[in-house]
Amino acid sequence: MKNVILEIKQITSSETLPIRHKVMWPNEPIEYVKLPNDENARHFGLFVNGEASSIISLFIENSEAQFRKFATLIEFQRLGYGAILLKSIIDLIQKEGTRRLWCNARVEKSKFYERFNLKSTDEKFIKGGIEYVIMEKKIVDIRI
Ligand SMILES: CC(C)(COP(=O)(O)OP(=O)(O)OC[C@H]1O[C@@H](n2cnc3c(N)ncnc32)[C@H](O)[C@@H]1OP(=O)(O)O)[C@@H](O)C(=O)NCCC(=O)NCCS
Repeated sequence: MKNVILEIKQITSSETLPIRHKVMWPNEPIEYVKLPNDENARHFGLFVNGEASSIISLFIENSEAQFRKFATLIEFQRLGYGAILLKSIIDLIQKEGTRRLWCNARVEKSKFYERFNLKSTDEKFIKGGIEYVIMEKKIVDIRI
C-alpha cells in the first residue's frame, strides 16, 4: 500500500469555497456557497499528500458549536477522510469546553453522524429540495 500523508489544518473561508462548490452546489454560482458569517467561523481542511480533500466549518455561539459545509471531494469520498476530519473537530471542541455540537444534517447522511453519537432531534426542514434534520451531541466537559 502507498504511504499517504494526512494533515488537518485551519484554513481560510475562501479556501473552502472551491470544494463546497464542486461537491455541494456545482450548478449554482460560487457566491451561493458563501455564508454571511464565514469570516467569524473557523474552517478546517484535511490534506491528503498536500491536497485539500475534505473540509468543515465551525461556528461557535454561546458555547455551542455548529458545523456546516462538511464536504469531501468526490474522488476522495468513502475512504474514511470525512470521518477523520469530523472526529478531530469533535475532539477539539471537547477540549475547548463547548457544551453542544449540532448540525443541519441531510437526512440521507444521518446514519453517518449517528456513528459519532450525534442524535436526531424533532426539528426537520426542507431547503433547496433537500430534507434536513437537526442533529446534536451533548459534550461532556473533560477539562481538569
Ligand atoms: C458527508 C461526506 C462529507 C462524508 O465524507 P467522506 O470523506 O466520504 O466520509 P467517510 O469516507 O469517512 O465515510 C463516508 C462513507 O464511506 C464509508 N467508508 C469509510 N471508509 C470506507 C472504506 N474504507 N471502504 C468503504 N467504505 C468506507 C463510511 O462507512 C461511510 O458510509 P455511508 O456513506 O454509508 O455513511 C461526503 O459524503 C460528502 O462530501 N457528501 C456531499 C456533501 C454532503 O452531503 N455533506 C454533508 C451535509 S450534511
